Amino acid sequence: MAARILVLNGPNLNLLGSREPRIYGRETLAEIEAACRRRAKAHAATVEFRQSNTEGELVDWVQQAKEKFDALIVNAGAYTHTSVALLDALLACGLPAIEVHLSNIHRREAFRETSYVSKAAAGIVMGLGAKGYELAVEAAVHLVERKKKKKTARRK
Ligand code: DQA
Repeated sequence: MAARILVLNGPNLNLLGSREPRIYGRETLAEIEAACRRRAKAHAATVEFRQSNTEGELVDWVQQAKEKFDALIVNAGAYTHTSVALLDALLACGLPAIEVHLSNIHRREAFRETSYVSKAAAGIVMGLGAKGYELAVEAAVHLVERKKKKKTARRK
């Protein structure tokens, strides 16, 4: 079955395109979504994109993800650095997750150095702008396929 990937975007990422373009680039979230869709299609996978400025809504989406998806891609925006609730939801959900950041959070202000999301992430893509989302799709597909292969090998 094709990998079903849920891409979650946190606060202010709806402003991409006009928000601090020097840091985050000129691509809009809709353009990033379209590129991810194309990339997923090449792997016979699907992506669903969501964005919220509300921490609780992101937590709800992570909690519900197990029913409909095989992997998560998460750019939690500023909640990356603050949200234990989101970390707990990701740990409870158990789906493989790729953390994404447009910017390299380790080259910026000290308060961005800490990521709670990283503690639940299988891998991290950062500092590559919008391209990072497409690479995260590749990574998510890889993780889902690897998981399936392991499952099949265990059954033999
Ligand atoms: C971000 C980095 C965060 O520190 C920031 O709060 C964001 C975007 C990124 O994609 O580079 O909103 O996650």
